[in-house]
Amino acid sequence: MATAGPLSSPTPDDLGQEPPLLDLDRLEARARERLPADVYDYYAGGAELATTLREATGAWRGWRLRPRVLRGVSTVELGTSLLGSEVRTPIGVAPWAYQAMATPEGELATARGAAAAGALMTVSTSATHALEEVRAATEGPAWFQLYRLHSTAHTEDLARRAGDAGYRALVMTVDLPLLGRRLRDLRHDFALPADLRMANHPPADDGERPGLRSLETATWTFDDVARFGEISGLPVVVKGVLRGDDAVRCVQAGAAAVWVSTHGGRQADPVVPSAAALPEVVAAVGDEVEVYADGGLRAGSDVLTALALGARAVFLGRPVIWGLAAAGQAGVTAVLDGLTAELAHTMALCGLASVREVPRDTVAPARAGGGG
Ligand SMILES: Cc1cc2nc3c(=O)[nH]c(=O)nc-3n(C[C@H](O)[C@H](O)[C@H](O)COP(=O)(O)O)c2cc1C
Repeated sequence: MATAGPLSSPTPDDLGQEPPLLDLDRLEARARERLPADVYDYYAGGAELATTLREATGAWRGWRLRPRVLRGVSTVELGTSLLGSEVRTPIGVAPWAYQAMATPEGELATARGAAAAGALMTVSTSATHALEEVRAATEGPAWFQLYRLHSTAHTEDLARRAGDAGYRALVMTVDLPLLGRRLRDLRHDFALPADLRMANHPPADDGERPGLRSLETATWTFDDVARFGEISGLPVVVKGVLRGDDAVRCVQAGAAAVWVSTHGGRQADPVVPSAAALPEVVAAVGDEVEVYADGGLRAGSDVLTALALGARAVFLGRPVIWGLAAAGQAGVTAVLDGLTAELAHTMALCGLASVREVPRDTVAPARAGGGG
């Protein structure tokens, strides 16, 4: 079984080949060698039979590109804006918990790695560094992801702190009314190592260490969208939407953006893949608000498919985790730069000049009646 050695500075060898030949499988293998088995399984695993996790990448690949020719595209513009924040790439970092298990600097290293790539980072409630500390680590744009803490008052305080610290949006994750049954974690009886803490949590009244169950949001309703927006003073992004009718209700409730996600296959399972839900959500609200997607995006062509289906940006979970665990801050940058380079390359091959203008007819279902 692999044990975690002290994580040293990355060498070029840790990062696989230069972009655009980013080798995510190799990076994951390297991360796996460095991490204790229960930590690797926590990062890698899905809920129940892990059907959603297994199907996520393949669902993006149920679409085929339809390149345009003779468009005179010699440079590709990758920059865009997300709720008004300028970014150099439409590929951002999804919120993920417990980053100091991957490397001691945890969220600080991820923030610096993302800023070096010009990418937006979303910081999780269950971070191992306080949200103020992560925000102060870079000048890059960042959003804060909200779960429920162990009381309404604590949760409201957290939303307020996110606004005060300079985050540019509050991402309410709504697909965790209860924690998904992650069988690998149950087998390991997985818990955050004793030397680490959920740094955004105030001490519980009963002195118990908070665990992932403390984050459950079963009491939240659509009314909480406007409420947390007011408390934080930030635009609210609702993350974990898989239906057009829910997206409409989120927007009616005041959401500034909707994020299509299956939580990396870690919650309800089996559910529709993001690649199948995205067109429905875009059809419902895409003219009114920005729509993002995540889940299983592993190649520049997957990202281009998501943009064609109407996502303004996409977010990465595990690829960034493997980058951080294998090679620290430089690994995060390498993953974001590598996939962005792949995206640019694929766009040039398809005659597309800007990530802001990727027409829907850039993709067609791989098979008649397919596409998801
Ligand atoms: C180890 C791990 C921890 C996660 N923690 C959070 C979290 O704290 N908050 C949240 O909203 N989503 C969390 N997610 C879900 C991610 O934000 C994202 O939706 C998902 O990882 C995207 O899929 P991908 O890993 O295939 O790229 C987590 C995912 C993983 C793999």
